[in-house]
Amino acid sequence: QIAQKVRTQNLGQVLTEAATFYKQQLREHPHAIAYLKRRGLSGDIAQRFGLGFAPFEPTLSSVFDDYNESSSLLDAGLCKQREGQNRRYDFFRERIMFPIRNTKGQIIGFGGRVLDKSEPKYLNSPETPLFQKGQELYGLFEARSAISQQQYALIVEGYMDVVALAQAGLANAVATLGTATSTAHVQKLFRFTDTIVFSFDGDSAGRKAAWRAMINALPLATDTRTIKFLFLPPEHDPDTFVREKGADAFAAEVQTAMTLSQFLLFGLNQAAPDGSAEARARQLHLAKPLLQSLPNGALRTHIIQALAAQLNSTPSDVSEYCELNAALRP
Ligand code: GTP
Ligand code: MN
Ligand code: MN
Ligand code: MN
Ligand code: MN
Repeated sequence: QIAQKVRTQNLGQVLTEAATFYKQQLREHPHAIAYLKRRGLSGDIAQRFGLGFAPFEPTLSSVFDDYNESSSLLDAGLCKQREGQNRRYDFFRERIMFPIRNTKGQIIGFGGRVLDKSEPKYLNSPETPLFQKGQELYGLFEARSAISQQQYALIVEGYMDVVALAQAGLANAVATLGTATSTAHVQKLFRFTDTIVFSFDGDSAGRKAAWRAMINALPLATDTRTIKFLFLPPEHDPDTFVREKGADAFAAEVQTAMTLSQFLLFGLNQAAPDGSAEARARQLHLAKPLLQSLPNGALRTHIIQALAAQLNSTPSDVSEYCELNAALRP
């Protein structure tokens, strides 16, 4: 156990020193600075998020010779070694580096973006004892005070969305690390606010992701909380939208975002819109697991009523079909 503790302490130190190295390399690589400038980012915002650059040369492995002995760079996932070979190579090369922090502010991993059109566009550090991708929200540490000030948090898809929104003055955004938004993500964010607004990309992938996020957020949709969904035009993500139209336009979109109940009813109706008996049955069938996920409260009651109206049915028939009174059954 002590050995494990020393190992994770060491891991944290390596990640911090690597972040310092990447920041320094950014200063020394004008083409990387030019990339960030092209994307509209200021030096100030780059500094606030600790952005850096992993060049082809020098490599981390060459600069951190001392660590090679203890194989810390390998443990941290910042360098790799092929089976049966001695040579180590850097995991991130020629990428803009986004340090990922936990809520204590410790660096636990990195996201890295290529400067051109090559694939994969983003890489994340592999998981370590410090870094579980499905749990973390990029930018949460940086966003904490803005979230409590604005009294809501935004969840967006990408690193660039978080940084661009912050630059525009909307510093209350966080992003998942390229994974679907899980119940654990939403739970974590609800420790900081009782209002969450999802703002995914306007494309069809973003819309599908919003529906999945809604499903995962349902168990946490208690009556004291607010969950909303903002749908941007298909050609936009939050980054491009805020850069083209400005922070006020984005804030106006937040004001008119769909509520969870609106989105749920709208989504069901879209899945089977023709008003036939079959379509209504299908909506009810799709609604069943969703209503079962919702906490038993006033919100659920109102959604049941609204769904009953949408289906030309009654709240008690909806509840019965969805087996919502399980406690009353033998
Ligand atoms: P930019 O082109 O830099 O504006 O990126 P984006 O954030 O708009 O990209 P996109 O909408 O395609 O992806 C959203 C998020 O998904 C990114 O921020 C990443 O976290 C993740 N992602 C995108 N592409 C990849 C990929 O190729 N590999 C991995 N692991 N994650 C990706
Ligand atoms: Mn992509
Ligand atoms: Mn996308
Ligand atoms: Mn995007
Ligand atoms: Mn983008």
